[in-house]
Amino acid sequence: MSENKTTTPTRRAFFQAGAATVAGLGAAGGRLVASSQDTLALNGGSKAVTYPADQHAALRRWPRYGAAEKRVLHELIDNTADSGGFYKELPEFEKEWKEYTRSPFVKAHMNGSSALTSMYFALDLPPGSEILVPSYDFFSDCLAMRFFGYVPVFVDIDPRTACFDLADAKRKLTKETRALVPMHAWGLPCELDHLQDFANQKGLILLEDAAHSHGASMQGKKTGTWGQMAIFSFQGSKPLPGVEGGMGMYQTREYYERAAAFGHYEDPVTFPKDSPVRAYEGTGFGQKYRMHPFAAAVLRQQLKGLDERNAVVSKNVRALNDRLKQLPGISEPRCRPDQERVYYYKSMLFLEEARAGFKRAAMLKALQAEGVPVSMWDYPEQHKLKIYSESKWWHHAPKIPPSMPGNTQVNGTHFFMPLLHGDAPELIDQYVKAFEKVWAHRAELAKA
Ligand SMILES: Cc1ncc(COP(=O)(O)O)c(C=O)c1O
Repeated sequence: MSENKTTTPTRRAFFQAGAATVAGLGAAGGRLVASSQDTLALNGGSKAVTYPADQHAALRRWPRYGAAEKRVLHELIDNTADSGGFYKELPEFEKEWKEYTRSPFVKAHMNGSSALTSMYFALDLPPGSEILVPSYDFFSDCLAMRFFGYVPVFVDIDPRTACFDLADAKRKLTKETRALVPMHAWGLPCELDHLQDFANQKGLILLEDAAHSHGASMQGKKTGTWGQMAIFSFQGSKPLPGVEGGMGMYQTREYYERAAAFGHYEDPVTFPKDSPVRAYEGTGFGQKYRMHPFAAAVLRQQLKGLDERNAVVSKNVRALNDRLKQLPGISEPRCRPDQERVYYYKSMLFLEEARAGFKRAAMLKALQAEGVPVSMWDYPEQHKLKIYSESKWWHHAPKIPPSMPGNTQVNGTHFFMPLLHGDAPELIDQYVKAFEKVWAHRAELAKA
């Protein structure tokens, strides 16, 4: 790309000039015009991102399996004498995950959704009990409640974090509310200290959907261990990918035994004699939720590198976001200093169109033309989906809220940058140059 080397204003002055131009729509300031000589790739100019395509794709590849995963799968296949032998991987993985998270009880399940269903079974609340849950969420966090007669009460998200909005939860509290299940969206922990205080004050059970937040913590305590129960998903896109898999997290023996008995018919017989669910040996409660042993074998290898992989991604996000946030209109989800977040799927940023002076759609189009794999994806808002509005599927039909301004704002302003899983300072420089180039042209893009 042909950078204009003659114009070297400070970054702040440069973008202030740009902002002034946008505000006047067409009243071009000298510096901005000089910089705008760099034709957008959208209009036939050269792309800002010239990084070799194969290396660019390799940095983004996920999940990342290699020799260790191949070795353990081959060993398992070659050295296992009978079908029962495969399952020894499950208690080993549970032990390692329990140590990693410092959780008193864990249970491996076939996926996050089955861990959620077991969790709601373990709750053992009367039908009609209300559970506060974000609408900006994966379906199984809400829908699995249906099987036990619970009522999902949809809570908004805080547009600064895309996580559970406590103020809205307080508004939705009724005498039927029994629990809340915040979800740590895209790897950012919810404000668990505030949620725990709220739960304690109101006598509610704090649960967590930690499907996105493997390795994240708050005040040194891992997500998934704050709530009385929690779940993780190990589906292939997750920070700890097992292609498919899930984990239930339990703070008490009672919750653990009940959740395990639901979908693990062989477990009750291993429980102490006084366990209320021991009598259900041989059947459990009608489901079979065992994790595939190959997934457990792969997950054990992946767990060894989880912190390191999270750290590489976070370092790259920091290097990029610290520069992108200097552009008018760009911000990132707020993360408190006592929260250690991770990144799931992509890095979410926000564009405030009024401050940027042009539309998100125009930004995406221009950046993509520059070779930046920027994207957007609206998280489905559960409360808008058909199944929640049809009472025939529900013991107690959920109430559909008229609006969810936090969801609307996040879905309407976010954009995603890819996660980079290796050292990539040059590529990050090129991404930044692409953004700066597009920002220099935003008056023109605002008119398009
Ligand atoms: C927030 C959330 N909860 C629960 C799940 C369910 O996990 P699984 O796909 O392993 O069933 C997912 C899956 O993507 C999720 O994103």
